[in-house]
Amino acid sequence: MTVSREIRLKNRPVGVPTASDFELASVDLAAPGPGEVQVKNLWMSVDPYMRGRMYDRPSYSPPFELGKAMQGGAIGQIVASHDPDYAVGDIVSSMFGWREAFNLSPKAMAAAGPMGALTKIDTHGLPPQTFLGILGMPGMTAYTGLLRIAALKDGDVVFVSAAAGAVGSIVCQIAKIKGHTVIGSAGGPEKVAFLKSIGVDHVIDYKATPDVVAELAKVAPKGIDVYFENVGGVHLEAAINSARPFARMALCGMISQYNEPGTPTGPANIIQAVGKSLRLEGFIVSNHYDLYPAFVKDMAAWIGAGKLKWEETVEEGIEHAPDAFLKLFSGQNLGKMLVKLA
Ligand SMILES: NC(=O)c1ccc[n+]([C@@H]2O[C@H](COP(=O)([O-])OP(=O)(O)OC[C@H]3O[C@@H](n4cnc5c(N)ncnc54)[C@H](OP(=O)(O)O)[C@@H]3O)[C@@H](O)[C@H]2O)c1
Repeated sequence: MTVSREIRLKNRPVGVPTASDFELASVDLAAPGPGEVQVKNLWMSVDPYMRGRMYDRPSYSPPFELGKAMQGGAIGQIVASHDPDYAVGDIVSSMFGWREAFNLSPKAMAAAGPMGALTKIDTHGLPPQTFLGILGMPGMTAYTGLLRIAALKDGDVVFVSAAAGAVGSIVCQIAKIKGHTVIGSAGGPEKVAFLKSIGVDHVIDYKATPDVVAELAKVAPKGIDVYFENVGGVHLEAAINSARPFARMALCGMISQYNEPGTPTGPANIIQAVGKSLRLEGFIVSNHYDLYPAFVKDMAAWIGAGKLKWEETVEEGIEHAPDAFLKLFSGQNLGKMLVKLA
């Protein structure tokens, strides 16, 4: 018998979540049954989209159930196996994060779709948690949003918000690899220094800037062609204000509004989208996995050539997973926010 600790959603948070919205519980895990494997999670991801799953409302991803372990990306290791396709020691990715260990029948779960899948990973010598960050969903989001949704083309000036985070920092670097002028916005001097170290041309510390709209207009006097939207609110207003005709905006996320749906009511200047012929297009990365082979090929080449850098902010222990999640909303992560479980 193995004891696995897990984090359950206790209340549906109102406004900014607090530690009291989560509870730590323990479950006894029996030895895996016929056809089952047992997975010990090594790392789990906390992601901004999880805030959306805390509301009880229809969305592209179903609500978390109260009193049950939450879900999310995790990288684990097979510790017992009754499935010939999985050997003890194999590294696997799953959506069964927020817990230390679990049993699962890979064949039975394959029918449940991607949320139930257990995928073996060849790490190619990279740390396994890389597959929750630069080589995982956030990296794929950056690649998809910039190259497919915003349709980056030669000469574009690119503006990125939440630029020092998991997605934003990869967007900035792909744009730099492709020779673009990049403007990044992030909060605080440490993030500004990091963005300069990865070659971002102009960095806006939005927390030290009274007027983000005016600041973007100042650092991009000829305007921007692409906006990679992670934040919403005044950042979107700034991007619209500085957009050149036919600019494209990849609407990836709007974290400033996740805790207060409906606010702000703007952007107040959205009418400019008409006269400037702007294209604003939202996307969810899971709809774009046909790009995955191209993503892996390009990322492997860029990482191999030393052209991509990444940062991780790590909390240790399942009991600290809620803290890690909450820190996303106060910007206490540089690069990918992760929880180390073993
Ligand atoms: N569409 C998709 O399929 C998809 C997939 C993955 C992620 N996303 C979205 O992409 C965005 C980035 O996700 P991520 O995983 O890379 O997270 P992240 O950027 O690593 O972490 C979130 C960052 O957001 C910034 N932030 C938080 N509250 C803010 C506020 N009120 N105003 C301005 N900035 C704020 C913080 O940075 P500062 O210190 O700079 O404030 C924080 O570090 C999120 O909007 C997320 O929902 C979308």
